[in-house]
Amino acid sequence: MLPPMTERGRFITFEGIDGSGKSTHIDAVAEALRARGVTARLTREPGGTPIGESLRELVINQAMTRETETMLMFAARAEHLARVIRPALAAGQWILCDRFTDATYAYQAGGRGVDERSIAELEQWVHPDLQPDLTILFDVAPEVAAKRLARARSADRFEAEPIAFFGAVRAMYLKRAAANPARFVIVDGEQAPESVREQLDHLMRQWNG
Ligand code: TMP
Repeated sequence: MLPPMTERGRFITFEGIDGSGKSTHIDAVAEALRARGVTARLTREPGGTPIGESLRELVINQAMTRETETMLMFAARAEHLARVIRPALAAGQWILCDRFTDATYAYQAGGRGVDERSIAELEQWVHPDLQPDLTILFDVAPEVAAKRLARARSADRFEAEPIAFFGAVRAMYLKRAAANPARFVIVDGEQAPESVREQLDHLMRQWNG
């Protein structure tokens, strides 16, 4: 007799400009899911594998062309998909990923001005068959995010960008959310953290993926 088929895990991504507060809330979402008996695995991009973490070091610290930057994001992603995301989903685990391909559209197309079609081609090459089941977008005004970042730590190559850059990144995120309403949920990241948490708890109780 064949063993029972394992149901594919769910793929949830977290997006937003730097300082949107998304990383603070991922742990709480993981906890809420684990309380429901879900095996939830946290990971991030760029990163999530040894090669991905090395590429992350490079890309957030070293000056490079926007094309190089875009391709390194997808190189890290290809590794992450092959070694972490796809195997976990196939084993029935849920993946909670801090950023994914929407970030490349938002930062490299929206922020840096790379043609969206080039990103679409890389996306089509690297993950033609896979999209997140749910994307939680933490939306905040760049001015609010910048104040939070100034308090937090010394800025990396992205965080050091001017407010206008983050305005363009945010606009691309909102454009993608409007184009994919079934996948995106927008959370107002300017609310108090307790209110964000409540909203996320509610969302995870309701969402059946
Ligand atoms: P993080 O600080 O949220 O972990 O993300 C690291 C930086 O990498 C962040 O400033 C956004 C940037 N980034 C891109 O520019 N493109 C991408 O595709 C990804 C995944 C991240």
